[in-house]
This record gives sequence, structure tokens and C-alpha cells, in this order.
Amino acid sequence: METFQSLLAKKLSNALAAAGLPDAGELTPATDPRFGDYQTNGALVLGKQRGENPREIAEKIAGNLDVGDVCEPPVIAGPGFINFTLRPGAVAERTADILGDERLGVAETESPRRIVIDFGSPNVAKPMHVGHIRSTVLGDALARIATFLGHEVIRDNHIGDWGTQFGMVIYGWKNLLDQRALQQNPLAEIVRIYKETNALATSDPQVREACRQELVKLQAGDKENIDIWNECVAFSMQDFEHVYELLDIHYDIQCGESFYNDRLPGVVERLLKSGIAEISEGAVVVFFRDIPELADKPCIIRKRDGGFNYATTDIATVDYRFDDLKADSVWYVVGAPQTLHFKEIFEIARRQGYQADLRHITFGSILGEDRKLMKTRSGENVPLRELLEEACRRARKIIEEKNPDLSEGEKIDVAQKIGIGAVKYADLSQYRMTDYVFLWDKMLSLQGNTAPYLQNAYVRIRSIFRKAGEFPVTAPASGVRGETGGRRAATTLTLTNPAEINLAKRLCQFAEIVPQVLNDFRPNILANYLFEVANAFHTFYEACPVLKSEEPERSSRLALCDLTGRVLHRGLDLLGIKVPEKM
Ligand code: ARG
Repeated sequence: METFQSLLAKKLSNALAAAGLPDAGELTPATDPRFGDYQTNGALVLGKQRGENPREIAEKIAGNLDVGDVCEPPVIAGPGFINFTLRPGAVAERTADILGDERLGVAETESPRRIVIDFGSPNVAKPMHVGHIRSTVLGDALARIATFLGHEVIRDNHIGDWGTQFGMVIYGWKNLLDQRALQQNPLAEIVRIYKETNALATSDPQVREACRQELVKLQAGDKENIDIWNECVAFSMQDFEHVYELLDIHYDIQCGESFYNDRLPGVVERLLKSGIAEISEGAVVVFFRDIPELADKPCIIRKRDGGFNYATTDIATVDYRFDDLKADSVWYVVGAPQTLHFKEIFEIARRQGYQADLRHITFGSILGEDRKLMKTRSGENVPLRELLEEACRRARKIIEEKNPDLSEGEKIDVAQKIGIGAVKYADLSQYRMTDYVFLWDKMLSLQGNTAPYLQNAYVRIRSIFRKAGEFPVTAPASGVRGETGGRRAATTLTLTNPAEINLAKRLCQFAEIVPQVLNDFRPNILANYLFEVANAFHTFYEACPVLKSEEPERSSRLALCDLTGRVLHRGLDLLGIKVPEKM
């Protein structure tokens, strides 16, 4: 099933060839719906290239366009744009096809890849905080979308479970631990001893040295220290798991930094042997003398004292992902402060001969109402778990007002879907590089570009079907296998009112939008598209009676409602957001 966009792009190429012109310009959705649905700037591009009048070129192209099966006659506008308006009949046919397709018209990729997505990746002995939302939620959405498009995705949680902080944690464990507090709230107690040790180490060189000794012992495999480390990791993982459960996040593998520990000496040896690394002042270092930006930022892969760095682990991680996991691509969803780090890691991979597709997917910050990095009143990072629980509490209040008759069980379920959905959507609907201000009232509002607004549109649709007392008109046809292969029964659509034509056109675009998200890793494109679908639906619902209309409109409009609900459901699911049936 081909999208209108790709169909018209092909027809445009054919017209250019028939007119004896080279392929030029693009076929894009129209910037202003008053001028049609799609447009091309091909004539403008060619006019510039050849120093000819673009309007004349546009005439030539238009004369060769064979689009009558899907469009009204193309219109030349302005300096030489060609505008295309879809015929309602073609829209109705295509909408009916999509209705019968579980994938809602979205094609699977022709070049499936195995993609490792490294996202979330919190650090042990620290609670997950609000800063982890972006990596976690963005990575999850990209994983869902890539999977839906037919890629093989390996979701990897690269947990920071092996680093210099453990010298301090172990020192604190041995000297400052309060067993009672540990029983009550293990992670909080681990964080406390870590912070206190950190403060002590800053002012007292003896403590600092003691911490270093603990770290050396840990790295040398000292039993007592390994046991303490294991316990701390387990406590942290419990906290992470709780957050992942709330967020409905799943990983395929969780190879933390410690997983690579045994491989680090080999990495250093190999890089030394191949001449990629060299010894400098007793350390092993990779220089980037030919890259201006990195020229004065050598990467130390083994310290003078023999210890390894974060970067050494990441080099081992690249090896593992390409050599063992056989990945074609690795996407790192990690904040912008690590940009230089990943440039160096990617450059080292290149020098090692990996023909690798490595991407660092960065994102901006979440700000508090004061437009500064979001913190608690006492200036601490906001623990993610508390924030998510707060989201559910606030959503619960909204439900109590909106629909007090729901059962207790329903209220809990719906509050979680709305609260968590709101937090995720507030993030994903922004361009990932933009900093955004975290505002409870705004993200939980039932109006505007929010998850609750979209969820509410879905709920409305479900209630139409409940009222109608019938299944969605396109429920799987019973017993009709074989020819339809379990697809939904065909419905013929009758589109007359401009509001229903507009809604149907939007629904046809789902298949154009989803693949676009991966071009520059922008789930916000999908989020904003869903917002437009919901808006188009509300306009349609106000303009077109559904249950009270006569046949054939009634079935046709019910089919549109059904498809809208399915697009919202699937689209939100690709963003990791659930929909309630009532709210
Ligand atoms: N644990 C790191 C942090 O919190 C993020 C790890 C990202 N992934 C990686 N392969 N370096 O900053």
C-alpha cells in the first residue's frame, strides 16, 4: 500500500523524465492547506539551475503529470510551485484500505537493521532523577518506532555500576552506615553515605586516600568489597525497576559498566599495538591531533595508576555491540554534555576500522518554573520515582472531578495512564534539543497539546461505539480468513463534508509520518501529528452527526471514528503512552 506522498513523488519523477528534465526538488506536504495537500518546488530548483523561467518549467512538468486518478488537476502557483489536491474519491478509497490494515498503512522498512539502543543508563548508588526522563522516554519511543518499522532492536541499559564513586560508597558503608536506615529506605541510605563520604573526601586527604584504596581493592576482586558492591547494585536496581514498571519500560539486556571490566586490559593492549593509542606521561592515551575540536582533548584510556576510565568501557562496549551482538547501528540516547566524549569514542571506532553507524542522540534540559534546571526546594535533583507518583496523584484528582463514578480499580488504572502519559508526552512533544519548563497544570490539562487531550479524544470515540451498542464497524470479520488473511472487513466510505474529508486525509498521513520520525530522531513529529488528528476529529465531530445520520453516511462516519481511534491508539503506543477506555 503506497502513501499519497510516495505515489505522487513517483508520478512527479515520471513527468520530469517525460518532459526531458532531470529529477529535481521535492514533493512535500503543502505548507498551507488552502493551496492543496502536497506541493513541489521542482520547477523552482530547475529554473535556478538552468537560468530559465520557473513558471514555464512548471507548465512543462504539469503538462506531463499523470495524476488524474488521485488528484484534481495540479495548479501552478506563485513563482512556480505545483500544488496537488487529493480527490475525495481517492481519499475514501485509500482510507478504506487503511481500515483493513492492522499496520494502518505503515510499510515495513526495505532495509531492516539490527540496532542497539543505549538509553536510560542510570548510575548505581544514585537515585534516578528528573534528568533521566528524557533519555529513558525518548529512547523507549525510538525503540518502539524502529521495531514497528521492521528493524531488529536491542534495548540496552548501560548502567553505571562500576566507577570511582564505589570507592566512596564502600568507605561510607564501612564507616558511616546506619543499618536501621538501610532497612527502611536502602537507596536513600546509600546516597546519604556516598554524599557524606564525598564531602569528607573533599576536605580530608586521608579519607580521599582511603576511598582510593577501597576502589583498588574492589577492582582487585577483594571479597568483602565485592559483596558490598553487589548489595549496593541490587538495592539500586530495585529502585530502577520500580521506576521502569511505572513507566512501562523494558530492556533486552542490561550490560552495565561492570560487564566490560574484564575486557578493558585487552582493549588497551590492542589500541597500543595498533598504534591508535600511545604512552604519554605514564598513561595510555589516544590523541586526535588532526581534529581541531579534539586536538587539545586527548582521551586517557588507562590512567597512570593503572585504572581505567569511562571512555575505556565505552570502547569495549562498541566492540561488544558490533562483534558479539552483530549490530548494524548503535544509538546512544545521552545528554548533550557528553558530546565530546562520544565524538572521541566514534573516532576511535573509525580508526579501529569499524564501518559503523554510530549516533549520539542528544537532548536539552528539563527546567523548573524558574527556568533553571529543575531541582527540589532544597536544591537537590528531583527523584524520578517521587515525580511519577506525584503525576499519578494529580491525575487522580482530575478523574475524581471528571468521572467520580468509576470504580476504585478503574480510577487507579486511569490515573496511572493519564499521569505517566502526561509526563512522557510533555517530553516527547518537544523537539528533543529544546529545553522545556516542567509545568504540572499545563501537561495535565485536558485542553491543548497534551496526553490527556489525546487520551480524551480516544475515550470519546470509544464512548460513541458504546452508545451505538455495536462493535466498531470494522471489527475483524468473523470466519473470513484466507483471502483477507484475518484483515478487517472492507467498508466503503462516503466522504462529502469538508470536515470528514480533512479528517480522512490526516489519517492517511499516518503512514507518511511514522517513518519520518527516525530521520532525525524526532518523536515530536508524531506527537504533533496526533494532536492534529485529534483536532481534525473534534472539528469533524462537531460538523458531522455520526449516530444520528442516515446510511450510507452513518457507517462511513463510524468507520472514520474507528480509524481515528486506532491511529490515536497506535500512535500513542509508539510513544509509549497508554490509553484508557474511559476517563
Ligand atoms: N551512566 C551514564 C550517565 O548517567 C550514561 C551512560 C550512557 N551510555 C554510554 N554508553 N556511555 O551519565
